[in-house]
Amino acid sequence: MIDAPKQLDEYELGDLLGSGGMAQVYHATDLRLQRPAAVKLINPALRNTESYRNRFEHEARAVAQLNHPNIVQVYRYGEADDLLYMAMQFVEGQHLGDLLAEQVKSENYLSLDDVVSIVEQVCAALDYAHQHGVFHRDIKPSNIIQTPDGRIVLVDFGLALLSEVGTLGEALGTPTYLAPEQAMSSQNVVAQSDLYALGVIVFQLLTHRLPFPAVEEPLDMVLHHLETEPYLVRRFRPNLTPSIEQAVNKLLAKRPQDRYASGADFANAFSAAVHASPLVRHLELAAVNIRADAQMAATQLGQFTDSKVRPALTEVGSKLREGLFQFDDVMVQKIVPTVQAHLTRLRDPAQRGDVLPYWLGGLVVILLLLLAWAVLA
Ligand SMILES: Nc1ncnc2c1ncn2[C@@H]1O[C@H](COP(=O)(O)OP(=O)(O)OP(=O)(O)O)[C@@H](O)[C@H]1O
Ligand SMILES: [Mg+2]
Repeated sequence: MIDAPKQLDEYELGDLLGSGGMAQVYHATDLRLQRPAAVKLINPALRNTESYRNRFEHEARAVAQLNHPNIVQVYRYGEADDLLYMAMQFVEGQHLGDLLAEQVKSENYLSLDDVVSIVEQVCAALDYAHQHGVFHRDIKPSNIIQTPDGRIVLVDFGLALLSEVGTLGEALGTPTYLAPEQAMSSQNVVAQSDLYALGVIVFQLLTHRLPFPAVEEPLDMVLHHLETEPYLVRRFRPNLTPSIEQAVNKLLAKRPQDRYASGADFANAFSAAVHASPLVRHLELAAVNIRADAQMAATQLGQFTDSKVRPALTEVGSKLREGLFQFDDVMVQKIVPTVQAHLTRLRDPAQRGDVLPYWLGGLVVILLLLLAWAVLA
């Protein structure tokens, strides 16, 4: 712990808000302007190298240029009493780490609308910073604060860069949110590295779990990021649709170029998946269930032991599997987007003139589905 003075320049320090790997954050009062602030004291052990100071100043300038409702406003970086500190807007609220812990404890999932709201605001902040050449580098729940009225504010922009002069262990901390390319080298950081970290958080918000098996050693988590295929959301929340799952999974791709190009792209895809009409959601889930049922039926048919009927049953099984897989793919690739498009048109008053054919089309699709169910059941 740093021994904090009572005052740093014009900032009178108050209660300790919390402390992390390399710093302590205090509630403070700006005595000149008579307004609240938060002051982050940086571990003095880190400040003595030239490269650290250069980075600190470079990063301070970059972050000071950012002016966005979802990014904490930095008042000043200073040096006083032999301490480096950053004074910033005090954000009242709860960080997502605490929010998640509460949700996990009460076994209560955050509503999908709330997750969308968090995603949209974090993505807006990230896109804005990335467009200004600043990467966050340390997106994690404790750096995302939610105010009582639901606004999201990101803190600690660019500060992760400063901890890299410490040892590797220090720099990594708990690498729960570390993108694979960032784990290889901090030089590799791109906009998509911040998005990957957000992907891990969204996965946690949706499932109350990490997308990888639990580990004891931090290094094993790094290996998971590098090598293990992440869990899929529906493994833990089977009633969420495949589109929601796919959007999150895409953010967790190993290669940055396989993720979304921007935060907005992810936010749009995620929000569209969450807000898809009930009909589309049912169709998506029906497709998955049909596939699972077909697979089970085919397996059971294949397990029949009577040697006379077995070949025939095995063949029926594989036909079933083949046919239903095709049906499933056709449904997901063609029917779902078509129904979605029709519903969108139906909602557009300018196009209501030709409503009838679409309703009929929808009806035919539903009848076909019922037929498929009946045949299967
Ligand atoms: N501007 C701010 N207003 C209010 N609380 C803040 C502000 N900045 C940070 N905090 C809170 O202060 C606490 C300590 O932050 P700090 O960044 O030192 O630790 P951390 O984010 O948990 O870990 P790390 O040091 O790895 O970033 C956190 O709970 C954080 O949410
Ligand atoms: Mg922090």
